[in-house]
Amino acid sequence: MKGLILSGGKGTRLYPLTFTSAKQLIPVANKPVLFRVIEAIRDAGITDIGIVVGDTAEEIKRAVGRGGRWGVNITYIPQEQPLGLAHAVKISQDFLGDDRFVMFLGDNVIQGGISPLIAQFASSEYNSQIVLTRVDQPEQYGVAELDPDGRIVRLVEKPKEPPSDLALVGIYMFDHHIFEAVNAITPSWRGELEITDAIQWLVENGYKVYPYIHRGWWIDTGRPGDMLEANSLVLEELTPVVEGYIDRDSEVDSRVTVEKGAEIINSVVRGPAIIGQDTRIVNAYVGPFTSIYHHCLIENAEISRSIVLEHCQIRNINRRIEDSLIGRHVVLHRSPIRPRAYKFTLGDYSHVGLLGEDSG
Ligand code: DAU
Repeated sequence: MKGLILSGGKGTRLYPLTFTSAKQLIPVANKPVLFRVIEAIRDAGITDIGIVVGDTAEEIKRAVGRGGRWGVNITYIPQEQPLGLAHAVKISQDFLGDDRFVMFLGDNVIQGGISPLIAQFASSEYNSQIVLTRVDQPEQYGVAELDPDGRIVRLVEKPKEPPSDLALVGIYMFDHHIFEAVNAITPSWRGELEITDAIQWLVENGYKVYPYIHRGWWIDTGRPGDMLEANSLVLEELTPVVEGYIDRDSEVDSRVTVEKGAEIINSVVRGPAIIGQDTRIVNAYVGPFTSIYHHCLIENAEISRSIVLEHCQIRNINRRIEDSLIGRHVVLHRSPIRPRAYKFTLGDYSHVGLLGEDSG
């Protein structure tokens, strides 16, 4: 079997973080989501992996390389425009040939890997298998309607009136018949060739498409809230390792990972949390569900349930920072310079939540 990862697209819902970089490279528990996807596919025994890339191709190639680090072989497949998931399959035909394959969306994080699923599909005669899970807001996803025997009746992309609460998870398995489907369908109302329509085509044309109900958690990291949620869930499952330095005046609980070269000085860190390589935490508090990436400085500040990307500095802030997603090279500090006013240099589409007058 082969693997196909979709890592094109624009990531508009994660602006401004994704103005300059790929959404699939935003780290969750200090590891880019895309790396987690590659590892899940590799752990299922697949070593031949294609990655569909768009505008952010160069950044993704720089971060992933040829795959040697994971013991896999990566082939890059350029997609000129994000014309849909089925379009991405279409342009990958040369790479995929007649092999059965798993397609994984590069911004999805799933609990428990995909090995059992791949094993089931590899030894079956199914033409396709889709992964479904129950969600609260099915209208935001592709949705499946099943009959009482659990067979697929219908699939619809982001329906206004969802026929069920079973969403299509961003993991799909196909054999070569999917190429007939992607060539037969036409673009949807949003101008994309939808994979949901292609699978519906398979169902209508008598191919064997089976659902697999996923019972663990699954997150499509499309929006900032989803990133924080995924970060919390992954941190909870991380086996903590301490490779950095913790001084005697600090209190760091057992569910905290401290990466190489990191230093925790006179601070309190409550897990689950991760402190990245060469990051310094000085006279600070880092609360649960926080990931601080590499080469950051948190000094005289408090932060919890947040993701801080590389090379940030957060200093002398007298309110706790919470539920925040902070981009690369951000400097956040209390300025000694008068007048005492907020001074911002914010990128387009930034979000800043300030305390109101009456909140003390
Ligand atoms: O996450 C699950 C959902 O993913 C499914 O429930 C939906 O049925 C499916 O259509 C898809 O919906 P999204 O609207 O969330 O897809 P998105 O545009 O975010 O793209 C998913 C990934 O695929 C993302 O990593 C970018 C990449 N992509 C997307 C498009 C449209 C490409 O590589 N090429 C593309 O043309």
